Amino acid sequence: MKIGIYGGAFDPFHNGHLSMIRGAIASKKVDRVIVIPTGMPCFKPSRKVTLSPYRYYMVKAALKDEPKCEVCDIEQVFGKPSYTVDTLKNLREQKVVSDKDELFLMCGSDILFEYESWYHPDEILEYATLLCALRPGIDEGQARNQAAHLEEVFGKKVKFFKIDGIEVASSKIRRDGDFGDVCDVVKEFIEDHDLYSEDSPLMNVSDDMYKTLMQHCFTLFHEMSGKRLLHSMNVCVVSTRYAMRFGADPDKCALAGLLHDCAKELPEKQQIELSAKIIHGYIPGKQILHSPAGAVYAKEHYGVEDQEVLDAIQFHTIGREVMTITDKIVYLADKIEPSRHFDDLSEIRRLAETDLDGALIECYCAIRESFAEKGQEIHEDTKKSLKYLLEHRGK
Ligand SMILES: [Fe+2]
Ligand SMILES: [Fe+2]
Repeated sequence: MKIGIYGGAFDPFHNGHLSMIRGAIASKKVDRVIVIPTGMPCFKPSRKVTLSPYRYYMVKAALKDEPKCEVCDIEQVFGKPSYTVDTLKNLREQKVVSDKDELFLMCGSDILFEYESWYHPDEILEYATLLCALRPGIDEGQARNQAAHLEEVFGKKVKFFKIDGIEVASSKIRRDGDFGDVCDVVKEFIEDHDLYSEDSPLMNVSDDMYKTLMQHCFTLFHEMSGKRLLHSMNVCVVSTRYAMRFGADPDKCALAGLLHDCAKELPEKQQIELSAKIIHGYIPGKQILHSPAGAVYAKEHYGVEDQEVLDAIQFHTIGREVMTITDKIVYLADKIEPSRHFDDLSEIRRLAETDLDGALIECYCAIRESFAEKGQEIHEDTKKSLKYLLEHRGK
């Protein structure tokens, strides 16, 4: 089978990317396309690139109904920069493609002019043939001349295919905040995850913490469903934003936010065993169990030593009588991060703009109300936390 390999940061995935994929298949130069969102940026951890699970799942959502096309997670690995030559080698070694498959590295015509400066350009061509898109408006003669030059240097054929559509650049979309050239699914994804927000909260965490968050994202990617991971990343970002807003430590809030549900998808038996290490004498209810279990798992599996972070994870479901600022922030971010659509969260979100305790009280009351509608009562610890907040409000 002839397989097109199409890699990129896809930050965001836009209509120009879509026209590359569709054009390659329509040209019949390839039978299908494997799309590979980059994982680690090639050089030092860059905050200018959106965290990779966001980009991976954005591309997945955009292409879920696209025929003859699949999204591959082969670059979602920490610590290894995403060099094209390594990715191609790994595709073979990990049997994502078979030995019989012929690979075509899809690229825009601009790539032809920088190709010689790529990392191991000769070796890349041992694995794949360059397949270059010719878009309306580009100088085709120049592109073909450059291709002839590369063919001479490397002794390998360069192939072409024609595509429709205009030139679109992700960097321009990000800079202008104009999402006219992204499909509706991607627009919805960007909104649900508040990507490309002006305040970019993660710019405020320390370099070391940013590296740690990236590392944990890659681990969580392989341990958690996409939905849970995206929710966790949202909680991480919102918690960091609130840390800046309310004078808390952004590193602690970001870390607790990212890991708050780290035990939620573990088998129940394991959650009970983990929880028993800090909760003695009884097993917490099913909805709550993952929070004490998560605190232990974060310590044992993710190496978190900071008790304030571990506490915020432990108390994110029901609260506790006296909440730290980190507890409050993570609790609230978990309930109102942008992909949360249940109930009407507008009043809590509005309060969270300026008044952390006010937002928390509103949130507790909304939960108490929804429990009451089902004939249930909120947890004793939540009641204590609410009472304490009301009594100490403004003091
Ligand atoms: Fe949770
Ligand atoms: Fe959560």
